Amino acid sequence: MYNGGKIIVGIAIFVGLFVFPIFYNMGKPSAMPEPKLDTPVINQLDEKRCVESADYMRANHMQLLDEWRDSVLRDGNFVYESSNGKKYVMSLQNTCMHCHSNKKEFCDSCHTYANVKPYCWSCHLESKEKAL
Ligand code: HEC
Ligand code: HEC
Ligand code: HEC
Repeated sequence: MYNGGKIIVGIAIFVGLFVFPIFYNMGKPSAMPEPKLDTPVINQLDEKRCVESADYMRANHMQLLDEWRDSVLRDGNFVYESSNGKKYVMSLQNTCMHCHSNKKEFCDSCHTYANVKPYCWSCHLESKEKAL
């Protein structure tokens, strides 16, 4: 006859060892991506600044893009005045992607990490170079 108790303990230890690394890693974020700023247009900027501060952009770029779209499509206003008084044309392709022409190393690096898939690219082009 086998010793049922020992087998169960054995299985429990085996499962425990097997699962331990999974639980152990669960609380830890995997390496945060570092979105690359190395594009021809950004490299030529005197001041390496986005349309708003990097902190603001990190937290609010989705809302900002929504505002831009609504402003252009509903109000026909396509000039955005930044909090520092600089003016930008409100365009995903011609403004954001003009500077951030490296969509894969920039936008996608974060979105893949955060598991978000903006549906914009079925209509909007990824870079100015590729636009008509
Ligand atoms: C004039 C060039 C330029 C334009 C136009 C521009 N960006 Fe940026 N963007 C930058 C630079 C330079 C930085 C880094 C700023 C810093 O580190 O202070 C940046 C930073 C960011 C960040 C934060 C990245 C991080 O490391 O957390 C996001 C998100 C972003 N931009 C999205 C956008 C979006 C969306 C648009 C269009 C609405 C846009 N940018 C338009 C140049 C630009
Ligand atoms: C620093 C990391 C980071 C960078 C760089 C970044 N994003 Fe995002 N983006 C996010 C995160 C995180 C979300 C999801 C946020 C949320 O749902 O609150 C998001 C959401 C979005 C959304 C809304 C998607 C949805 O389905 O709700 C759009 C649109 C978007 N990003 C566009 C861009 C574009 C365009 C660029 C490049 C110019 C860019 N993002 C660069 C982190 C980033
Ligand atoms: C079904 C097609 C479609 C999708 C998907 C789409 N757009 Fe658009 N978008 C348009 C059209 C058409 C215009 C108006 C034409 C123009 O001005 O370029 C526009 C205009 C805009 C504008 C203002 C003008 C410009 O050239 O950028 C912004 C900003 C914008 N969209 C952002 C977004 C974002 C962000 C997403 C994804 C979250 C998105 N759009 C998804 C079709 C689309």
